[in-house]
Amino acid sequence: MRRIVLLGPPGAGKGTQAALIARELRLPHLSTGDLLRSAAAAGSPLGVEADRYMREGHLVPDPLVLGVLRDRLAQPDARQGFLLDGFPRNVAQAEELATVTALDAVIAFELPRNVLVERLQDRRVCPKCHTVYNTRTRRPDREGRCDLDGTELVQRPDDRPEAIANRLAVYAEQTAPLLEYYRRRELLRPIDASGSLDAVAARLRRVILGSSDAGAPVRSSSAVTQRPRS
Ligand code: AP5
Repeated sequence: MRRIVLLGPPGAGKGTQAALIARELRLPHLSTGDLLRSAAAAGSPLGVEADRYMREGHLVPDPLVLGVLRDRLAQPDARQGFLLDGFPRNVAQAEELATVTALDAVIAFELPRNVLVERLQDRRVCPKCHTVYNTRTRRPDREGRCDLDGTELVQRPDDRPEAIANRLAVYAEQTAPLLEYYRRRELLRPIDASGSLDAVAARLRRVILGSSDAGAPVRSSSAVTQRPRS
């Protein structure tokens, strides 16, 4: 299983787990959020435009994101597989993705809303290398500094309370329908995203590496999939 989408609400731990598992599986971690933030930091016209939407917690318009994603998927390291994090975010993006590549699985992270909000409020990130920390659950060795490059950690503008509320509402309205979309296509594998980083990583690994006790395709809508309450 090598062409994998990580789907789930903001703060569920997709980026954190993708970074861990990508190294292990030697698959590139393709995060549309990181790509758009890098474009914004570089001040490119696309980045400046995308930043206006991201700050408020709205989705960036499809044509902008699709351009970024197509360019990234065309790079040589993505030919043998990828962990796609943050894309697709709506049915139109999913349809577009299907014209570019087939998928092996869509892994859906499930977590209650109160835990999502807590994780987002406590998140800190390295603006240089994108490593993700948490003031409670994943503290850097040196207070406020990235372990990898010493850069000062920052809070993402969209981790303010108003933007978090917006992002959760946008997820429920536009992204959650993808759960049914991929369930119908027998690609959906839900995982419980609660518990420690190691516990979630173990569940993810079991799904990706296909052990017998996890990861069977989900066919019926009675399967447990948790949407954040908006
Ligand atoms: P994006 O960057 O994709 O943000 P997101 O989907 O909202 O996801 P997050 O990065 O907030 O959460 P995550 O699940 O990765 O959690 P993390 O691992 O960081 O998108 C940002 C914006 O870009 C969007 O709002 C939109 O504007 C735009 N955009 C991106 N893609 C787009 C698209 N396709 N179309 C249109 N617009 C798009 O973890 C969160 C915190 O929890 C961290 O502090 C972490 O340390 C902690 N944590 C993680 N796991 C655990 C654990 N097991 N236990 C305790 N703490 C944990």
